[in-house]
Amino acid sequence: MITNLLFRYHQIRLQSELICEPLEPEDYVVQPIVDVSPPKWHLGHTTWFFEQMLLVPFMPDYKLFHPEYNYVFNSYYETVGNRVLRTNRGNLSKPSVVDIYSYRKYVDKCMKDFIENINLSTELLNIIEIGLQHEQQHQELLYYDIKYILGNNPLFPKYREESNNKNLSSATPLGFLDVSEGIYKVGHNSDGFCFDNEKGHHSVFLHDYIIGDRLITNAEFLEFIQDGGYQDFRHWYSEAWEWVKTNDKKAPFHWHNMDGVWYNYTMHGLKKVNLDTPVAHVSQFEAAAFAKWKGMRLPTEFEWEVACGIHQPSIPVSANLSDMDTFEPIQPTEGNYQFYGDLWEWTSSAYTAYPYYEAPEGALGEYNGKFMTNQMVLKGGSYATPRNHIRPTYRNFFHPHLNWQFTGIRLAKHV
Ligand SMILES: [Fe+2]
Repeated sequence: MITNLLFRYHQIRLQSELICEPLEPEDYVVQPIVDVSPPKWHLGHTTWFFEQMLLVPFMPDYKLFHPEYNYVFNSYYETVGNRVLRTNRGNLSKPSVVDIYSYRKYVDKCMKDFIENINLSTELLNIIEIGLQHEQQHQELLYYDIKYILGNNPLFPKYREESNNKNLSSATPLGFLDVSEGIYKVGHNSDGFCFDNEKGHHSVFLHDYIIGDRLITNAEFLEFIQDGGYQDFRHWYSEAWEWVKTNDKKAPFHWHNMDGVWYNYTMHGLKKVNLDTPVAHVSQFEAAAFAKWKGMRLPTEFEWEVACGIHQPSIPVSANLSDMDTFEPIQPTEGNYQFYGDLWEWTSSAYTAYPYYEAPEGALGEYNGKFMTNQMVLKGGSYATPRNHIRPTYRNFFHPHLNWQFTGIRLAKHV
């Protein structure tokens, strides 16, 4: 078991570094908006997590790599002390990228000693698992942030070259799946890992509804744009309409109109918008406005989870998983994910506690619970999501105006 754990630890830690491999030193440092953290900060913060949650409290005679790193790499844990302002993460030239890779090496060596020599209780194994899952969450954030950093540059540099083995296909006609009225169980109910916010397997009542059998494509979203969707207040929530006007929104994030033609920034540089792939980089405001324009709405998180449980095996992959964003996806390694795994799908559900939710004691209690206000739930997983994070009960959450993440739209409606 220890050998397996060590292997997994090293694989996951290595993956974060592989994601950063195509970057130049300067790419690691910038923070164009508050939500985008410098890649070097992610590499340091995920390392800090292991140091602060395991090595400091549980490793006898552990020596900190650097006394100030707790201040630099603490993200939001009040329990663990003061920290650098989030907006200042990109203003720090030190620690350097080289320093942070040394920090990773040091903590990895100590974690190896820790895993090999400490008697690992269930509690400690659980914290190690959370550290690994946390690092994987940051791997996805690294993709979002790298894409923002490069796509924000007027030269539109590529993250990496496009691979040739694309499986191009056209989008299937949009169909809808029926779900009957009834009482359904939702929430996590197995021995596998889940975050605390998924616990609390409970019943919900759903009325009859239909739900899209795939995500909305760029072609379908273009119709909304061309129909003046961004200029018509009737489609938008009040807060969303303010956001459209304040930010002069005319299209999804990463889209650019050049001489009347729509392009979007992809991990392989600027490309003409592919009409057959799912529309990505929409905020929940845009997703809800599009749905309203269509005479429909977004599914609730429970409608999504129940539909996924019922229909997942028979649903075709949305338009073009392998061509998504013309960015090579991580291939599924287990199962055959069809209802999810290309883009995170916005729901109309506010991110709140399930019945009987209890935040864990101590710093880890700050992981999820304290964000349960003013954010919306997303379901599924994106092509940048580590495959073993994709499960029907996973509850991702973001503020509704954010759109630099890999997000998409699935429609629903009562019948
Ligand atoms: Fe984090």
